[in-house]
Amino acid sequence: MQKKQIWVLHGPNLNRLGLREPEIYGSTTLEQINQSLTTRGQFQGFDIQCHQSNHEGALIDLIHRAPDAQVAGFVINPAAFTHTSVALRDALAAVALPFVEIHISNVYRREPFRHQSYFSDLALAVICGFGPNGYNLALDHLMAQLQPAS
Ligand code: DQA
Repeated sequence: MQKKQIWVLHGPNLNRLGLREPEIYGSTTLEQINQSLTTRGQFQGFDIQCHQSNHEGALIDLIHRAPDAQVAGFVINPAAFTHTSVALRDALAAVALPFVEIHISNVYRREPFRHQSYFSDLALAVICGFGPNGYNLALDHLMAQLQPAS
C-alpha cells in the first residue's frame, strides 16, 4: 500500500533558521527540522515532503498541486504570511486538506500584529511557543488524525 503523504510548508525567512534572530527562533536549522520530521514520519509509515519558499505565489501553487499529488495533509508555518495573507488562506480552504499551523515562537508574547492569524480558524490545531520541537508536535497530531482507527 502506498504511504500517506504529508507536506511540510515553511514560509518566508525560515530558510534562515539557525542564523536568524536565534534569541527568538533558536539555533536549529531548517535542514535539521526537516530531517527530524522526515525520520519521524517514516517511523510511522508516512512519506514527508518538506518545502520552503519566500514567495507567496509559489506556496499557493504548491498547495494547489497537493490534491493531484495525493497529499493527505499539511504541517504549515506560514511565518509572516500568517498575519497578512488572505490568498494563502484561500488556497488552503480551496483544497480543503487538513492542516496543523505551527509557530516556533509564542506569537502572543510578541508585537500585537503577530496576534492575528488568517489560518487558525481553518486549522485542525495550532501550536506555538514550543520552539523547533513544535514541528514534531504538529506532525504527531496530524499523523494521529490521519491514521485509520485500529
Ligand atoms: C513565526 C512567527 C511569525 O510572526 C514570524 O513572522 C515568523 C515566524 C514563528 O515560527 O514563530 O517568520 O511564524
